[in-house]
Amino acid sequence: MLALLAYLYLQKFFQCEASSIISALERPEIKCRNEQQIYLPYDEFKTEACARCYKYMPSVAFHFKLQYTKELGTLYDPRINASHYLNPFNISEVLNTFVEESFAEKWISCCRAAWECCNTMIKTPASLKNTKHCPRTWDGWQCWPDTPAGTTASLPCQNHIYFENGPPSCTKYAHKECLPNGTWYINEYRREWTNYTTCGRREEHRQYLYFHVTTYIISIIFIIPALIIFMSYK
Ligand SMILES: *[C@@H]1O[C@H](CO)[C@@H](O)[C@H](O)[C@H]1NC(C)=O
Ligand SMILES: *[C@@H]1O[C@H](CO)[C@@H](O)[C@H](O)[C@H]1NC(C)=O
Ligand SMILES: *[C@@H]1O[C@H](CO)[C@@H](O)[C@H](O)[C@H]1NC(C)=O
Ligand SMILES: *[C@@H]1O[C@H](CO)[C@@H](O)[C@H](O)[C@H]1NC(C)=O
Repeated sequence: MLALLAYLYLQKFFQCEASSIISALERPEIKCRNEQQIYLPYDEFKTEACARCYKYMPSVAFHFKLQYTKELGTLYDPRINASHYLNPFNISEVLNTFVEESFAEKWISCCRAAWECCNTMIKTPASLKNTKHCPRTWDGWQCWPDTPAGTTASLPCQNHIYFENGPPSCTKYAHKECLPNGTWYINEYRREWTNYTTCGRREEHRQYLYFHVTTYIISIIFIIPALIIFMSYK
């Protein structure tokens, strides 16, 4: 039943995407940049980004995690020795690999963000043409605009990056550093990297814990005289 609902929901959602697919097919030269620093035409970008949204999800989200392959936009299932091409109109086999619908929703939300990102990359006119800047890009989770060299871009952390518990109650920001030479910060694994550490919920948890410990101590302080009075009347 859940799977059916999810399927219907997806059908509806993907149908809404149809118009943008058609417009991109008419202009195949249009390309979108991803975190591997590769420019792909719209259709390839879509399936590829969606496959990597899947790859980046933690294993707790899956009954059985399909393998990301080098073949564009496919997920490999070793159980049946077959690859699923992420056809946006038919991803039902992939949905069955999630433990819960909520994880499937996060995955879809990531795919959708990637597609919207590609649309934005295509439609937004270049405003920093004459200054040194880092190029607009998809980072695997989130979309980043052209950013002047030597500055750090900040954007709200997206809900679909909170896999193990819900998003925090207040908006937090992810940061992406554009180096003075106009390249995005590259980490020790030679990959473009966005700083998502500030999206974490650790600080919030700690405050919550302090609050609890403090209330416990206060209630113990008040209970002791009450106990003494109670004992003395026995
Ligand atoms: C998996 O399929 C491919 C082609 O479809 C075939 O060449 C290969 O031998 C198969 N591997 C196994 C382990 O069955
Ligand atoms: C979706 O994929 C399944 C399994 O590969 C196939 O049986 C079904 O016909 C496909 N549906 C559509 C609408 O392409
Ligand atoms: C830009 O600067 C960074 C850090 O100083 C360096 O690692 C990188 O190779 C430079 N990129 C280019 C294209 O010069
Ligand atoms: C990421 O951001 C945090 C908080 O601003 C900072 O402490 C940390 O050094 C940053 N990490 C890198 C690798 O820049």
